[in-house]
Amino acid sequence: MKSLLEEIEACRLAFRQAIQRVKDRASLEEVRATFLGRKRGKVTALFEAFKNLPVEEKPFIGRELNNLKNELTAALEKKEAELIEVKKDKVERIDLTLPGKKRYLGSPHPITLFLEEIERIFLEMGFSIEEGPEIETDYYNFEALNFPPHHPARDSWDTLYIKNDLLLRTHTSPVQVRVMERQRPPIRIIVPGKVFRREAIDPTHLPMFYQVEGLVVDEGVTFAHLKGTLEYFLKALFGEKTKVRFRPSYFPFTEPSAEVDIECTVCRGNDSSCQVCGGSGWKEVLGAGMVDPQVLKNVNIDPERYSGWAFGLGIERTAMLLYGLNDMRLFYENDLRFLRQFRRK
Ligand code: DAH
Repeated sequence: MKSLLEEIEACRLAFRQAIQRVKDRASLEEVRATFLGRKRGKVTALFEAFKNLPVEEKPFIGRELNNLKNELTAALEKKEAELIEVKKDKVERIDLTLPGKKRYLGSPHPITLFLEEIERIFLEMGFSIEEGPEIETDYYNFEALNFPPHHPARDSWDTLYIKNDLLLRTHTSPVQVRVMERQRPPIRIIVPGKVFRREAIDPTHLPMFYQVEGLVVDEGVTFAHLKGTLEYFLKALFGEKTKVRFRPSYFPFTEPSAEVDIECTVCRGNDSSCQVCGGSGWKEVLGAGMVDPQVLKNVNIDPERYSGWAFGLGIERTAMLLYGLNDMRLFYENDLRFLRQFRRK
């Protein structure tokens, strides 16, 4: 019969071979049970046999047995840790050779970019930017701007009514009144914003579009300032050589009033069948005029002392001309092939 010492050695060797073959948790547990299991564990059996040894052998064999147990326990723990590492590695390892995921970078909407460009030009001239509500009262959208109830001019600014007195603003002009109510001259502002009209949709009409309003009120302000500023602005936007013309017009809130055209950027007046300008060679981009003294009175600004000029610019139409487009609806169809062509410079 083998001595206990020999059995300890044999057990150690058997364990070392067994642990080498462990590849997963299940086989690890099996090895643990085979050697350290309470019932059928080989080491457990050796401890049982140890009890029957003569007293003088016990200290030495006992130490050997404890060493064996410690070695096995440590090896099992080490193996267990290795298995966890391998698993983690499989889940988390980053394969640097894979192609990267390309992120699609969006860009601002062309109308946003265009508004920024307009704002930049006016900010340079010392204007500041104001905003106002898109849902307006009849007073600000019409009355205060000199459109009495039942005035026929209201027909051209027909809109959607929310209830009684509340409507979707048809232009950015009501913000003129709101600003003049809270601020005394000198006033030099522009007002970008959405406006709404009861319109049938076609290549040059939308029920929602953008305008930029402008207003200057101070002592000694004249039509010459209006003309000079707007000409400067349009040339900054369309190029130094662009021709600009002023035509007499009518708005209830300005006197005198004008409409401002720029040379058609598509045909430059050389195509009598041009779809964009109808062959006239000119395209209207804004309405303007000297603020009617009655509008100044409505906000308690003395028209004897102060005068002002104002303008309203249609953004989509102007952008169409700048980009040489023949259909305004392109801006709102969300066709990425169209939108991607516009980037911040
Ligand atoms: N509000 C006008 C419109 O929507 C445009 C306009 C014309 C604005 C003359 C003005 C102005 O400030 O002075 O058609």
